[in-house]
This record gives sequence, C-alpha cells and structure tokens, in this order.
Amino acid sequence: MPKFRRIGVLTSGGDAPGMNAAVRAVTRCANANGVEVVGIYEGYKGLIEGNVKVFGPRDVSNIINHGGTVLYSARCPEFKEEWGMQKAKETCEKYQIDGIVAIGGDGTFRGATDLSLRGIPCIGIPGTIDNDITATDYSIGYDTAMNTVVEMVDRLRDTCESHCRCNVVEIMGRNAGYIALNTGIAVGATAICLWEIPTTEDEIISRIETARAEGKRNFIIMVAEGMGSEFGENLTKKVEEITGIETRFARLAHVVRGGSPSLRDRVMGSEMGAKAVEMLLDGKSNMVVCYRHGEIRTSEITWALALDKLFKSHYAGYKKADEEKLLAPYTPEEREIMHAFCANKLEQMKHLYRIAMEISN
Ligand code: ADP
Ligand code: F6P
Repeated sequence: MPKFRRIGVLTSGGDAPGMNAAVRAVTRCANANGVEVVGIYEGYKGLIEGNVKVFGPRDVSNIINHGGTVLYSARCPEFKEEWGMQKAKETCEKYQIDGIVAIGGDGTFRGATDLSLRGIPCIGIPGTIDNDITATDYSIGYDTAMNTVVEMVDRLRDTCESHCRCNVVEIMGRNAGYIALNTGIAVGATAICLWEIPTTEDEIISRIETARAEGKRNFIIMVAEGMGSEFGENLTKKVEEITGIETRFARLAHVVRGGSPSLRDRVMGSEMGAKAVEMLLDGKSNMVVCYRHGEIRTSEITWALALDKLFKSHYAGYKKADEEKLLAPYTPEEREIMHAFCANKLEQMKHLYRIAMEISN
C-alpha cells in the first residue's frame, strides 16, 4: 500500500450544496488515518497557482450546514492544456500532495483522469445539482436543488391559483431534465418539457385547456434549461395567445444552486467523502465514487466518462459522439452492458414522465 503524506481536496465546476460536507468528511477521515489534508482553492486553478492550505480538523468546523463550497470553485480552461497540468503536478510535488479528491461534474472528472495519468492518484466525487453523471444515480447537490425548486414553484402556484394564471418555469440542469422532471411531479405541473422526452406545443396547450375546462385555476409548466434559452419565453407567449389564460415566465436560474444543503446532501457528501479517502489510501486511482441501486459503489473514471458520452449522445441526444471510437476499448459484452445501463436510465425517466402526465390535473 502506498504511503500517503498528504492528500488534496478540491471542488470544481458549478458549486453544489453538500460539497462542504464532502470536504469535511475527506479531511476528517484522512486525519483519522494519520494523513494530512491540503485544501486546494478554486478547483484546478488553485492547483495551477499553488493556492492551497494545509487543513487541520478544525478548519472544516461549521461548514456542513453551509451552501456553496468553502474551497470556492472556478472553471479553468488552462488545466486542459499540457502546461497547465504540468504546473498542477509541480504544485502537488511542492506541497507533498500524494493524491487528490476532486469533487465536481464530468468536466472535473476529465481533469482528474488527466492528472491520474500523469502520476497523481485521483478519486472523483460526483458533485453537481444537475445529477447528469450517468454512472451514478445521485450527485451531491441534487436533492437540495430540487427542494429549492419545489419551494419556489409552490409559491408561484399560490399566486397562479389566485389569479387563474399559468406560469412557465425554466429550471437549471444544463442539458439534463432530471430536476425538471422530478420537481414537475412534486409541484403537480400540468406539463413538463425535457429534451430527453419530446412533447409538442399542441399537447401542452391541450393539457392546459382540458384542465381549465375541468375547473383548474393554476397551471405550472416546467421547462428544463436543456430545451434552449428561448424555448420557455416563446412557449409563454404561445400559451397565452392560444388559451387566453394569462401566462408568466420565470427563470429560477442560480437561486437553485445555493442554500443550506438538505439532510440527503449532507449524508451523501459525508459518505462519498469517506469512501474517496478509503479508496485513495487503498492505492486506488482514476476512479469515481458512485451511488447505484441504493449503495455507494465505485467505477473507473474512463468507463464512467465513456458511459456518460454514450448516454448523452445515443440515448438522450444532447451531444454527438463518435460511438465506434468511444466503445473501441470495450469488449462486445461490455458494450452490451453499457447500452443496457443507458437504456435503463432513459426508461426510468420515461416511466416517471408517464406517471407525471397521468397524475397531473
Ligand atoms: P463540471 O465539472 O461541473 O462538469 P466543467 O465542465 O466546467 O464543470 O469542468 C470543470 C473543470 O474541469 C474545467 O474548468 C477544467 O479545469 C477541468 N476540465 C474540464 N474538461 C477537461 C478536460 N477535457 N481535460 C482536463 N480538464 C478538464
Ligand atoms: O452544472 C450546474 C449548472 O448550474 C447548470 O445547471 C447550468 O447550466 C450551469 O451550471 C450554469 O453555469 P454558470 O454558473 O457558469 O452560469
């Protein structure tokens, strides 16, 4: 087993509530094993610039209840360049960082895999409100974000009911519709628009008109950000024009990304943080902590990234990928498993969508 002097922890990409719980767990678990922790500020940018601090257990006190990330976050295109990665490696050598826990989304995992291949063991933890990392059923921040959406949309619904109005609400999630779909059920939305499960304007209008005819007074239309920046506003105009129901547009945007983490995000962050340290100290590298079938599990980062690309291109249709090249390293049996995994993920979404449409109105 390799001897670790220090491990680094960083948060990167979009921040997410619960990242602090993960940072705290990484620090406390490493310290409990006699390993020091270095906090790396602003993700890979801090690693390039040497913006780091040796943490003691008390440095992570009183953070589990706070939103955002105490390590701050940044998007750092320089890290994608070879010189940026070499600078990052030099920082690791200078501060005796023998391994890194990187908390973030798929971009952060790409950075972690690049660093692992350059000799710095890395373990990824999924942290993004979007929950759009295919290999895991859960990413830190998702639950808090959804609870925030529900709280906000419940308010919109109150005022829609008073005025007999419709509100089209655009919800963050980048390309993915998980937040919009789940919160759509939770707020009793009349319609939900996601990239993964196409619906037509006619269907949306007809659902509103049917509900109105049955005496409904509030109409919430959830629109995933992935539908494109103008979709929600255009739909708002269309709905008002055709149904005659006064219709407003709301974009919740970054408000959904902040706030005190929910219990689930605190526990998930803690469990995933502990697992990442255990993996590093066991000599593992280039892997991610995942949550599947109700359990904390692990996957190779390269597999997780390939699976993610396959889902996003072949199943969800957000991005195009060269599938032959993507799946070339895998045996026919492995490819079959990957396809089945992705197909099942989309089927789960469709199942939820069917329920949503059945029980609304
Ligand atoms: P997220 O991790 O939430 O997906 P980004 O896609 O912005 O967010 O990625 C976060 C950071 O990870 C980037 O700013 C960059 O520093 C690093 N990163 C992203 N893609 C790569 C890549 N292909 N190679 C190396 N580093 C990357
Ligand atoms: O990945 C998290 C997320 O909030 C997405 O939902 C959204 O598309 C994106 O980040 C917004 O990025 P930025 O904070 O750079 O505006």
